[in-house]
Amino acid sequence: MKHSKITISKDYQIAKVDDRIFGSFIEHLGRAVYGGIYEPGHPAADENGFRRDVLQLIRDIDVPIVRYPGGNFVSGYRWEDGVGPVESRPRRLELAWATTESNTFGTNEFLRWCKQAHTEAMMAVNLGTRGADDARNLVEYCNHPGGTYYSDLRRSHGAEQPHGIKLWCLGNEMDGDWQMGHKTATEYGRAANEASKLMKWVDPSIETVLCGSSNSGMPSFGDWEATTLDLCYDKIDYVSLHQYYGCSDGDVKNFLARSVDLDNYIKTVVCVCDYIKGKRHTGKKINLSVDEWNVWFHSNGAKFEKWSEAPHILEDVYDFADALVVGLMLITLLKNCDRVKVACLAQLVNVIAPIMTENGGKAWAQTIYWPYLHASRYGRGTALQTLLETTKHDTRDYCDVGDVDALAVWSEEDETVTLFAVNRDFEEENLVSLNLKDFPGYVPAEHISMAGFDLHAVNTKDAAPVQPKTTPLPAVERPVQEFSLAPLSWNVIRLKKKA
Ligand code: AHR
Repeated sequence: MKHSKITISKDYQIAKVDDRIFGSFIEHLGRAVYGGIYEPGHPAADENGFRRDVLQLIRDIDVPIVRYPGGNFVSGYRWEDGVGPVESRPRRLELAWATTESNTFGTNEFLRWCKQAHTEAMMAVNLGTRGADDARNLVEYCNHPGGTYYSDLRRSHGAEQPHGIKLWCLGNEMDGDWQMGHKTATEYGRAANEASKLMKWVDPSIETVLCGSSNSGMPSFGDWEATTLDLCYDKIDYVSLHQYYGCSDGDVKNFLARSVDLDNYIKTVVCVCDYIKGKRHTGKKINLSVDEWNVWFHSNGAKFEKWSEAPHILEDVYDFADALVVGLMLITLLKNCDRVKVACLAQLVNVIAPIMTENGGKAWAQTIYWPYLHASRYGRGTALQTLLETTKHDTRDYCDVGDVDALAVWSEEDETVTLFAVNRDFEEENLVSLNLKDFPGYVPAEHISMAGFDLHAVNTKDAAPVQPKTTPLPAVERPVQEFSLAPLSWNVIRLKKKA
């Protein structure tokens, strides 16, 4: 058995966790919308065509914000196609994913769905094939109360009250040549500056997100952020990061260390933001929106019919190893919550998603659903500097990777401390000593864990063996508590203040 030591103190805080760090993403891609959240005629559909079974799985997670409508899709999207009478909406060739878009679901349907899902919208505008004019019109359509062309158009479409969308993405992955309307950093920095300026003139209460790099391996990474930020620093509020990890080489040990890359990526973007802050002699701080993150590789190479509607694409079936990586990525986001204010697990339903559905049939939780749900439900509060002494190992791409990774969140309001921890060791249990001297009266309550599964075990519509197990813990007060983490395990250890 290995040992780790963790010390936490109320005085050593990272930051209050912004709830939006537990956000997600729905794109017009594959079956995320059609057959995912929206399927008129499904036995579980409500009067709007929203699947109630899917809504319930989403409400259980308590998703605070959902990014929409893309993704690569947004870079060719005409938002006007998706509003007004459904029968007169155009069918379009959707070039990002080579499918046909029916536009039977659009902005007002999405906002209506958000209410049912108990979530907020994070809206993206098209800065690929379109620009500042269409972006500011969409803000007027969504957020202006009335008395102007676009606000009255919204009212005529049955949405009397403004939607009040607060967070807006200035395009998507504009650094990538796969993107419709791909731009150089200078072209994009100028376009984003003007779009954000006009959008904020329409509604000064909104916040905007600049597109950072599409992943940490982009050749332009670093320069892209510095150049674009310098061109629009005063006009934007966040810079985005996107990152997916895969394990197509089967090296799970190395895969489990990928969260080290995410940590480096986040810290580098923080440095670039602060470099531009210093260079511009401004007090304004830019925070981070990790608005696409997940594991993505299982579905690579899957075929579908070109120009078909809502095909089965990017339908990764996640295994237990993926759930551990998602847990590690969540711990990494929380560790950096002084600067990461928004994050979106990409995506939410069917497309690289925690929730899967069958057209006309069941909805179920994939393996990665569980760490996401745990983090969202129990990770709200103040993230604490979690001093961790643990044994280390090397992997193919990383040195000195902790056998255990962990982060504690203290909710002063609920009087709880939650320790999220992953044991990366394939064979050995890890006995964690948690120093609680600064938390008198806090006693263990329960240990939720996922462990003991085959690394390739998956959940399907017929069988969902990969589930968390909850073990009640004896409520005995001790200055140092000991918890055992099984080999290859995701752990949520909950402590509560005695009444
Ligand atoms: O989430 C799937 C795709 O990944 C998104 O459309 C794009 O932004 C990213 O490359």
